[in-house]
Amino acid sequence: MHKLILVANWKNHPDSLEQAKFILKGLSKKSSVYKKLGTFIAPPHTFFESVSHSSKNFAHLASQDISLEQKTCTGSVSVEILKNFGVRMSIIGHSERRALGENDEIVSKKIKTALRAGITPLLCIGEHEHDAEGEHLEFLKNELKHSLLSLRKHDLVGKLMIAYEPIWAIGKKAKDAMQPNDLSHTVIFIRKVLSDLFGREVALKTPILYGGSVGPSNAEALMSTGISGFLVGHESLDPKNFGKIAELLNK
Ligand code: PGA
Repeated sequence: MHKLILVANWKNHPDSLEQAKFILKGLSKKSSVYKKLGTFIAPPHTFFESVSHSSKNFAHLASQDISLEQKTCTGSVSVEILKNFGVRMSIIGHSERRALGENDEIVSKKIKTALRAGITPLLCIGEHEHDAEGEHLEFLKNELKHSLLSLRKHDLVGKLMIAYEPIWAIGKKAKDAMQPNDLSHTVIFIRKVLSDLFGREVALKTPILYGGSVGPSNAEALMSTGISGFLVGHESLDPKNFGKIAELLNK
């Protein structure tokens, strides 16, 4: 069985290098716990050096996005820079980037760019609203299909990861996160869509993570749904709580 995966999405936090170092010091106290998982930290670029130095024994470096610019471009961090720095995985299509205008077409190009560079894409999908009639499932199906447009089975098998992050559950309290029962249905649905699009092997070999207000109080129940790990936002900035989530994954 694959290792369970735990991703820290620091977003645009913390505000200073000093605070980043403080978090890293806290994380290193639980390094043996993180080592048993596939742990990734996705910090702002300014903290890459510090994160890769302090967490090299227990976590991989990840980026929060990937740039499509191939030519010289002011303000961009190229995929080559990321790769050469040691970035192993990139979060792609996060809802906060989609809210800035990133559509499925751009997302699919970013997935291809990451794969070409040998960086594992973590494709984020998630509906704005959840409804009892299951209309969000149609939304998820289309988002998945279009975000992986023109990719083929052999591009993806063993190379893709998916994070299911319902937008309505992001940045809330653990009690407002998705309920385990709903999550297990949705994960089965996502695997079915992957299987219809790319076949059984891709469906079975693609880790599906959950993100959206994961914390120490709901991690265990959410894990019982058959998911492959978590993409954690605000609780990943709190080393104690992030460590507790890691311990629950290792249980
Ligand atoms: P959250 O964020 O854990 O703060 O809800 C998750 C994410 O946006 O990746």
